[in-house]
Amino acid sequence: MQQTPSSRLSANRSRLAHKVRYALRHPERVVPHLRRAGRDGWLRLRHRGSHVAYYRAVMASDTARSPEAAVGGSPSRDRWLAIGQMQYDYLLRHGLKPRDRMLEIGCGNLRAGWRFIEYLEPGHYYGIDISPDILMEAKKTLVAYGLQAKLPYLTPVADLRLDFLPDGWFTVVHAHSVFSHSPPQVIDECLAHVGRVLAPGGHFDFTFDRTEGAEHQVLREDFYYRTGTLVRLAAKHGLEARLMDDWERLPHGQSKIRVTHPAAGPAPGAAAVDDVPVAET
Ligand SMILES: C[S@@+](CC[C@H](N)C(=O)[O-])C[C@H]1O[C@@H](n2cnc3c(N)ncnc32)[C@H](O)[C@@H]1O
Repeated sequence: MQQTPSSRLSANRSRLAHKVRYALRHPERVVPHLRRAGRDGWLRLRHRGSHVAYYRAVMASDTARSPEAAVGGSPSRDRWLAIGQMQYDYLLRHGLKPRDRMLEIGCGNLRAGWRFIEYLEPGHYYGIDISPDILMEAKKTLVAYGLQAKLPYLTPVADLRLDFLPDGWFTVVHAHSVFSHSPPQVIDECLAHVGRVLAPGGHFDFTFDRTEGAEHQVLREDFYYRTGTLVRLAAKHGLEARLMDDWERLPHGQSKIRVTHPAAGPAPGAAAVDDVPVAET
């Protein structure tokens, strides 16, 4: 049974009652979930204390099975293409131009990245990721689409301090389905540093798994946040953040927030910050 949007936004997937209900609705998913929980438990033990090291190991394991599934949960090539297209079309509708300089955080195997690379001027795309395994796959995507002459940068990173990148350089920063896999300290680190590399008037768009109930996580792989929490986190670092209403209308399970420098003015299609629900904690 398909969840309604409101039950999706209020569900707490970490609760036993939710898990039991889910298992009864989808008995075929119980064994794969238990297998994943076992693997993740072992990887957490091996990489105790570092979420990034743990998640890098998750990506290595997932990528070995299927690069498409590693970045999107589904091994379907059609789905991989469709989600990349959705990201690309959205930014084009929001005025992306070939001269823009893009940083993609958590670029994966270039599901959307190959389209951005093809569209942007040579050297204007910079993809970073914590997973060397998925970056190897990114290079294969680059070759498959014949984009060598576009000279994109593809760089592994250990954190999101962005200290190797220049001040005020990127007009567009993009992170799709990255903060949905990130604990608060990773998002905080990114928001603490992204303002430095973001050009005046530029924007940083990221998707996240939204909840209107209690914030929670599942297997330290999927993290659910209230919009207000992330808006306030951006404000703590001197940035404005807005929920993008027009993204909500697209067939995608995550929500999108746009972050700008305060002087940049309202983003097109954005909800006012005052309209954004604020978390109690
Ligand atoms: C679900 S995949 C999405 C990939 C790509 N954005 C896309 O839409 O296809 C998440 C990606 O983010 C990367 N990632 C997760 N946490 C990260 C972090 N803290 N810094 C950089 N990359 C990260 C993962 O390695 C993975 O490639």
